[in-house]
Amino acid sequence: MFFSPLSSDMVSTKQLYDEASGDWRRSGPVLLSDYTARPFLLQWCEPATNCDVLDLGCGEGYFARNLKERGARTILGVDISSEMIRSAQEREAGERLGIEYVTGDATSLRNFGDNSFDLVVAVFLFNYLTLEETRHTMREVFRVLRPGGRFVFAVPHPALAFLGQKTAPFYFDPREHGYYSGRDVQFEGEIWRRDGKSVPVRSVHKTVEDYMSGLADAGFERMPLIAELHVTDEHLALDPTWFQPLRDKPLHLAFQLQK
Ligand SMILES: C[S@@+](CC[C@H](N)C(=O)[O-])C[C@H]1O[C@@H](n2cnc3c(N)ncnc32)[C@H](O)[C@@H]1O
Repeated sequence: MFFSPLSSDMVSTKQLYDEASGDWRRSGPVLLSDYTARPFLLQWCEPATNCDVLDLGCGEGYFARNLKERGARTILGVDISSEMIRSAQEREAGERLGIEYVTGDATSLRNFGDNSFDLVVAVFLFNYLTLEETRHTMREVFRVLRPGGRFVFAVPHPALAFLGQKTAPFYFDPREHGYYSGRDVQFEGEIWRRDGKSVPVRSVHKTVEDYMSGLADAGFERMPLIAELHVTDEHLALDPTWFQPLRDKPLHLAFQLQK
């Protein structure tokens, strides 16, 4: 279906996720962002009932499964990691929720017709794409969305890497780079699970302006909803020791757009 040639960066992202796929498998909240981002993003996807959904960078299907439970009509999950997709498909074979998963490159949506989906989601995908790939993918998302359709995505907060945190439970290392000089530079990082394990993550750094101008150039004319997601009092009540190091820091930037 997709099968465009992969750049060397994409091969390394694929390898990263192929190797870590076992640690991403989960049925309930495990990773930090399962608490601090995904519940919020799922709310922003409501109403999902009767929606045809495209989940770009779907991983092992955690978000897609949650969307299906909320009544989505069809869900197609696409991920560059064949191991993440294998894991999603294995789970689907047991549960039969009716979700389709394919290995593919989210930057290549040309096989989808215009106006094909009611909802496109991309949960921590754009931090793996270069600025040019991000801009291109946003244009393609706009094209494949039906009029009135929604686009919900999240990225690591662009400021997070520069706040001096290089420890559990979440960080990116900007090395010698600054907020502007680091544009389009890949920062390595880690995000932790509640059981103490961490998984490697990456962020090809982009500024808030980069995201906003990419969306405007893609054709999204309405004002986006934006949320700067962070550790809340509920998180601290649940597990004070784990969440405390991230208290008062912007963790994720969430967007909701309508075509
Ligand atoms: C942080 S994980 C998030 C997975 C899933 N969205 C979730 O919320 O659990 C990022 C995912 O994006 C995928 N990815 C990175 N670059 C991609 C690309 N160019 N096309 C498709 N998937 C990609 C990775 O393989 C990985 O599964």
